[in-house]
Amino acid sequence: MAAGIGIVDCCPGAVPARGWVTERRSRKDVGARLSLAYGMGKRKKITISTLRARKRESQRISMLTCYDFATARLMEEAEVDSLLVGDTYGEVCLGYSTTLPVTIEHMVTLAEAVRRGAPTAYLVGDMPYLTFQVSAEEAIRHAGLFMAKGGCDCIKVEVDRRLVKTVEAMASATIPVMAHLGLKPQSIQSLGGYRTQGKQAGEALRIIEDAKMMVDAGAIALLLEAVPREVAQIITASTDVPVFGIACGPHCDGQVVVLHDMVGFGGGHPPRAVKQYLQLHDLLVEAFRAYTDDVAEGRFPTEANSAGLEPKELHELQSLLEKSRS
Ligand code: KIV
Repeated sequence: MAAGIGIVDCCPGAVPARGWVTERRSRKDVGARLSLAYGMGKRKKITISTLRARKRESQRISMLTCYDFATARLMEEAEVDSLLVGDTYGEVCLGYSTTLPVTIEHMVTLAEAVRRGAPTAYLVGDMPYLTFQVSAEEAIRHAGLFMAKGGCDCIKVEVDRRLVKTVEAMASATIPVMAHLGLKPQSIQSLGGYRTQGKQAGEALRIIEDAKMMVDAGAIALLLEAVPREVAQIITASTDVPVFGIACGPHCDGQVVVLHDMVGFGGGHPPRAVKQYLQLHDLLVEAFRAYTDDVAEGRFPTEANSAGLEPKELHELQSLLEKSRS
């Protein structure tokens, strides 16, 4: 059912769009996207088997957060392996100071859009605050929305050993679970700040044990956030499931970065854990300023940016106007 929904929803090109919005696609583009959706593009669909094989062959896996169709298309073109529809959306797109206000409705809509843009990427949906902590039943129902409507390949939950039964229930209900361990931003109020977890040996051991418990409970992947690199290395070496890291050093099987950090959307210095590839902030401010100046000075729009009437039609219009006035 999920695959059917994914394919139909991946191809919304039949809907005519406004001609002055660049985002609309030509028939040729739609054809190209249809080929991708049906696996005829240059890249084959990335599945959990692909990721497992990558781990076995020591080939690193790339993951970026993604929250919209247009960016997903770019990431698909760039052949990013995996996209995470992360609840960081609440912070980087909605401007909240934490991820807590994000809702499942928000997230499933975003997942649908990202899937339309990136039909072959391994798509991970991030379960928002209190959509899985209350009961296993709620966790399964909410994760099911991500799978069936959002076309996700896997569902990420921020967990520790207290939620092992929930992960087990989700896995039994055919939900592919990615267990997020270490720094869990949804627990920020209890943690009291965003800082590295597992810096003391006892605490590190607990995270290592939690990781094993999650894999034993059926998690098909792990994501470690802000744990010391040695801890990340021990966990990665101790399991067959792919382990993604953020702010964990170089030893994980895969790396995830928040898009806005990577492209310098926010301006300022990137955090230590991030390599910044662009200063999009400066480029965009420059472009917005140039546009504002052009509008103010009358340099845009010009006649070239619009349609005109044929002389005959203009003439007829003038006669009609004259008649209607008399
Ligand atoms: O929501 C998110 O983007 C995440 C990453 C920081 C891993 O969970």
